[in-house]
Amino acid sequence: MDTFELIVIGGGPGGYLAAERAGHAGLKTMCIEKRAYGGVCLNEGCVPSKTFLNSAKVLDYANHAKNYGVSVEGKNSIDQKFVVERKNGVVKMLVSGVKATLKRNKVVMKEAEAFIEAKTDEGFIVKAGEEKFLAKRLIIATGSMPVVPPIPGLRENIETGLVMTNREVLDLTEIPKKLVVIGGGVIGLEMASYFSSVGSEVTVVEMLNKIAGPTEAEISKILQKTLERKGVKFNLGCKVTAIEKDGVVFERDGKIEKAPADKILCSIGRRAVTANVGLENIGVNMERGAIITDDCLRTNVANVYAVGDVNAKVMLAHTAYREAEVAVNTILGKKDHMRYNVIPSVIYTNPEVGSVGETLESAKAKGLNAKEVSIPLTYSGRYIAENTDLDGICKLIVNNDTNTLIGAHIIGSYAGEFIVSVSAMIDLEVDIENIKKLVFPHPTVCEIVREAIFQI
Ligand code: NAI
Repeated sequence: MDTFELIVIGGGPGGYLAAERAGHAGLKTMCIEKRAYGGVCLNEGCVPSKTFLNSAKVLDYANHAKNYGVSVEGKNSIDQKFVVERKNGVVKMLVSGVKATLKRNKVVMKEAEAFIEAKTDEGFIVKAGEEKFLAKRLIIATGSMPVVPPIPGLRENIETGLVMTNREVLDLTEIPKKLVVIGGGVIGLEMASYFSSVGSEVTVVEMLNKIAGPTEAEISKILQKTLERKGVKFNLGCKVTAIEKDGVVFERDGKIEKAPADKILCSIGRRAVTANVGLENIGVNMERGAIITDDCLRTNVANVYAVGDVNAKVMLAHTAYREAEVAVNTILGKKDHMRYNVIPSVIYTNPEVGSVGETLESAKAKGLNAKEVSIPLTYSGRYIAENTDLDGICKLIVNNDTNTLIGAHIIGSYAGEFIVSVSAMIDLEVDIENIKKLVFPHPTVCEIVREAIFQI
């Protein structure tokens, strides 16, 4: 049996980066992937949805070109078949990049379904298709899958094609006339933003009384208002009770209503993939279907690590990247650990949202002596020059005791790109007085951080 120092199960962002780093460090490494290298993120999640959203942004610009003194002849429209083909091209290019990087780092790639058969004194026996391998260490990176609750008609209509998950929606070659989105979280909002831009009548049905889950409350309201202006209809505090062939039935304040639909997107969260991996054969501890890990990504079983969505700590690709590095560093005996409190998150709607760290509410709940400064993005010259809807804001959360930033919440252009500058300030615990001495390029939207700092 061929022996590896490390076998990584799963080739998504967590898995492929762990394999790449381990290979680079000289460990004899295999990465087993059953579907497609790049995982959900590259093939049916983050990257494809961003190619869709960029097409919508171009169309939004064309539709509002006259606001910028540009005349566009004729009726602007989307060629959805082309959008899907372009998306496929983008995915292909990135997936081949991932494979090339793995190859360069001497990682053995195996395209098969992996199953952990047993733990022996020599290591773990892993079956991949018809072959068996011995691994001294394992990194489990099997990712997550959409939650499909037992709502009457839901499962059946995924089979008929009426209901889509993140996978099917990104292969849709025709724009639905009426799209109902179940769940006003990240996937739901990004797709609501896309389909409303390209001409669908979009209705969102969300169980909670706010959209975008943990997003700061005022930012969530601004996002809702701007999407409503684009025509998205929100039904908040509404529970879906059934899927029928012509729409979604839901309950509002005890009364039954129906949102007509010719396509439905189910985006109500994701759950870890831990079944049929053989985890029970080696006794890996789990909680609510996800693998329990410590801050070094170790499981309860020696030499077994779990990174990415499968540990369900923070289901974001960039969390998986960092977890992969921490796990490999731990294997290599280098001191490292995760800090989950400074992971930025981005919602790629138009306008986009960038957030990191505490909100004033969460800081106060933790008993911190915190305050908030909030300023409109119109403090930025570039923001005004490039936009006609000017609702963006930037909020910074400050710890008064340490005189450092502990949170930032921004809605507006490029927020997703420059939120990392505030993450760095939080992570490095930079004193506010030192942040004031940083020079920001002018004119940029990120200058808003400097402006806000001087309001503290
Ligand atoms: P989510 O957890 O972000 O949102 C799900 C929403 O559905 C919640 O607001 C919840 O209250 C609602 N909901 C749950 N059950 C419901 C029901 N029966 N009826 C109506 N509403 C219901 O999950 P989502 O949007 O599916 O995304 C899945 C994962 O993918 C998340 O972990 C997210 O972080 C990640 N993701 C991240 C992106 C980004 O960072 N830009 C983009 C897309 C996905």
